[in-house]
This record gives sequence, structure tokens and C-alpha cells, in this order.
Amino acid sequence: MNERERWATRVGLILAMAGNAVGLGNFLRFPVQAAKHGGGAFMIPYFISFLLLGIPLMWVEWAIGRYGGNRGHGSTPGMFQALWNHPIAKYLGVIGFVGPFLIVIYYAYIESWTLAFSVFSLLGKFHRLAAGQPGGETLQPFWDFVLGFIGAKDAGTLLHPSLWAYGFFVITVFLNIWIIARGISRGIETLAKIAMPMLFIFAVILAIRVLTLGAPVSPEHSVWKGLEFLWTPQLDKLADWKIWLAAAGQIFFTLSVGMGSIHTYASYLKSKDDIVVSGLATASTNEFAEVVLGASIAIPAAVAFFGLQTAQEIAAGGAFNLGFVSMPAILTQMPMGELFGFLWFGLLFFAGITSAVALIQPTVAFFEDELGWPRKKVALILGIALFVLAHIPIFVNGALDEMDFWMGNFFITLFALVEIVIFVWIFGMDRAWEEMHRGAEMQIPRIFYYIMKYITPLMLLGIIGGWLFTEWIPTLKQSSPGIWLARGVVFGGIVWGWIWIYRAFRTRKQGAS
Ligand code: PHE
Repeated sequence: MNERERWATRVGLILAMAGNAVGLGNFLRFPVQAAKHGGGAFMIPYFISFLLLGIPLMWVEWAIGRYGGNRGHGSTPGMFQALWNHPIAKYLGVIGFVGPFLIVIYYAYIESWTLAFSVFSLLGKFHRLAAGQPGGETLQPFWDFVLGFIGAKDAGTLLHPSLWAYGFFVITVFLNIWIIARGISRGIETLAKIAMPMLFIFAVILAIRVLTLGAPVSPEHSVWKGLEFLWTPQLDKLADWKIWLAAAGQIFFTLSVGMGSIHTYASYLKSKDDIVVSGLATASTNEFAEVVLGASIAIPAAVAFFGLQTAQEIAAGGAFNLGFVSMPAILTQMPMGELFGFLWFGLLFFAGITSAVALIQPTVAFFEDELGWPRKKVALILGIALFVLAHIPIFVNGALDEMDFWMGNFFITLFALVEIVIFVWIFGMDRAWEEMHRGAEMQIPRIFYYIMKYITPLMLLGIIGGWLFTEWIPTLKQSSPGIWLARGVVFGGIVWGWIWIYRAFRTRKQGAS
């Protein structure tokens, strides 16, 4: 068996893990979720979910990943088998093997828009859209532009994306696969060392720019109104079940937990590398990027230019409305708007690409570790598969949202429950605690022993139950060709994963005997 790859440096590892977690979720999904769910009313459930779900799962996933990696497994099927010697264990790991890849099929497409839009900003495209608009405050031309770009204007079952959208998508897939083919330290780690500092510099410049806007349009509309909206806690809304679900869902997505992706990155650790401090550093970096930087850009800017009411309506229209329609419209109203537009979409692109490679690597690791295929071959095959399968969300109306529902919501929570039960209840909490602390530079507060054992699994059960009623059943009732195709891809992908798990572990046994 080939020698497993390793992270070259501690800084590189932390930046790569932060790159994994900090993604489009921080700058697009978070502001939308917060604004949709009442701003300040969202933040308390959000922080509680961070403490009781996010941090515990982060440590659990680092520990499972390092444990499995030291035994030659870089993806969850083999990891679960190492933790629990039962024939079903490896099949339960299927989500951590095919799930991230099912996400990247649409995530890479959105990533490619950010690249395209950063180029458009530099070329002054958005300023030309604004120029046709006396007064320049209306969003309509920007909205039309986005619809034209992805080909959603009077689209039926099929979308007809522009050549720009298609071309930038091809470039993006190529970039992602090229990094993957270079491997862990030369590819992913090097990318993180360049992209993460740039991301933070871009985000800080933008946040300062937005926070110093004051009240550019009318005295009633100011950035402070936007911040006040996000940061005034509303205790009376704490009983609203839906806000809790949304907050927990955001914590999962933004921290990349419940997907198998953190496990894979952690599998490249050495057996005595610290987990406690590094895991905490990853989670904190992500939260800084989310609640400090992410919260200080798109929403306050929209409030300053359009007022709180309209800003909330924009956010309710979704991430694309806020990030790709309202932001370009706002940026054209600022001096040096071309440059700030480039910073905004460049920031999104760096956030996107460091997460996209984290979504591809688990599948790569499975074929490398369990079947012994060479990395470059796996990268090429997966690159072709990604390119071909992405035609579904690119061309079929409704497929992207449906895939995001299953992968970004449903399976993430289910998988988190499965992994914590295997680690804490089957492998055993005392062994799990010991495993997390091997090589640790800090002791985890004892209270987390009980949180991990009881509170996190119970909360997960509650969330899954809640989702079944509030979202799952209504979503299942929806039906269109695009939706059914997306479901086919998701469930077909899982069955395909099971077949490969069966084949990989059968040949492995024969090889060993
Ligand atoms: N955390 C990433 C984001 O915020 C998305 C992601 C989820 C990446 C799961 C990897 C695994 O955009």
C-alpha cells in the first residue's frame, strides 16, 4: 500500500481546515438565513447550536478522521469499520464518501459564477448596467443580468445558460481538479496558504468599506440600522421552532460537519498531532469569518442603500439575490466600485474553491485508500464525472435547489447522528475522550464529555424530527422533472457508493488472506 500523504505544516493544516469550513456558506448563506429569521432572533439559537452541536462534532470528526487515517482509511466507510467491527458499519459511511461529491456537482457551478462575476466587475460590466438606469437605485437590470447569465429567463424544464456561464464553469472544474491532482500538501495546502490570507484581506477591506458608508442614500437608512437588526437579541422569539432548525442547519453547513469532509482532512494527521486546539481554531476562524466579516458586508450594505424593509425582502429572495444582484447594484454606486466588486466576488471565489476541493477529496481518498488507485487517475476520472454530472444543475430547472435540500440539509444531520452514535455509544465515550486527547495541547472542559454523550445526539434527534414535519414532507410533495432527476442523482449516487464499498472491502479481504 502507498505511504499516506501528510500535511506539511501545522499552519498549512489549520489554513486548509479553515478553507474547508469557510465557504460560500459564510458570506452568502449566513446573511440570508439571519435576515430571513429575524436577525437578532436568529443569533441566540445560532450560538447555542454552535456550542452544543458545532464544536462537539468538530472534535468528534477530527478524532474519527485521525483514528481512521492512522489505520489507512481516508474516508468514512473504512473509518466506521475501524471503529465498529460490524458488517453494516462501512455501509453507514456511504454519505461521507459520496455526499460531498454530490454537493460539489452544484457547488462548483456557483463557484464558477463568482469567478465570472469578479472578471465582469473588473471589466466594468455592472457600471454599464447601472448607466442605463436613471437614478441607478433599481435592482431590475442586475436581476435581468443574472437571469440571462444562468439562462433562467422564461425557462421551462430546461435552462439555457449563457456561453459565459458555461465557459467559466469549464475553467473552474479544471482548476479544482488540477489542485486535487497535485495532492494534499502540494495542492490543497498550497492553495490554502495563498487563498486564505487573500480571503481575509479582501473581507476586512470590504467590511471596513461597508461600515464606513454611514447613510449614503437617506438619513433613515444606515449601516448601523443593519447591524442593529442583526445584533439586537429578541428573547420572545426563542420558542420559534423553525428558527432553531434554520440555525442548526446553518451551523452544520458552515462548519462543514456531518459530511465526511473534515474526517478526510483529519486523516492526513499524524497519530499524536493535536486535535483539541486545532479543531477549536478551525471552528473559531470560521465563526470569525461568518459572524464578524460575513455579517458586516452584504446585509448592512443592503440596509444602507435600500432600507431595512427592502433589504429583508432581498434576503428572503435567497443567496443569489443578495450576493449577485444587490451587491453589484450597490457597488456601482460607490467610488472605485469596479475594484470593490472584484474584491467581493474574488472573496467569494477564494471561499468557494477552498471548500470545493474539500468536497472532492473524500471521494478521491476512498479510491486511493480502499482500492489503491493512483491519485492522478482518480482525479481525472472524478473530474470527468463532475463535469458530466454538473450538466444536470446547469441545464435542468429546479435540480440545484433540490440537490441542496437533500445534501445540504437532510443527509448532513442524519449522518451527524450516525457518526456520533458510532463514536460515542458504540466505540464508547471513554475511549472517544481518550482518543480526542491523544497529543492534545489542551484539556477539553469536562462538561463536553456529557454534552457529546447526551445533549448532541438528543438535539440531533430533535432536529431530524422537526425537519421531517416542517420541511421534509412538504418538499417531498413537490414534483417536477428537474426535481425527480435530482432525487435520482442523489439516491442513485448512494446506491452506487454502496456497490463500491462492497467491492472495495471484498477485494481487500481477499488481498489480505
Ligand atoms: N462549509 C462550506 C461553506 O460554508 C461548505 C461545505 C460543506 C464544504 C460540507 C465542505 C463540506 O460553504
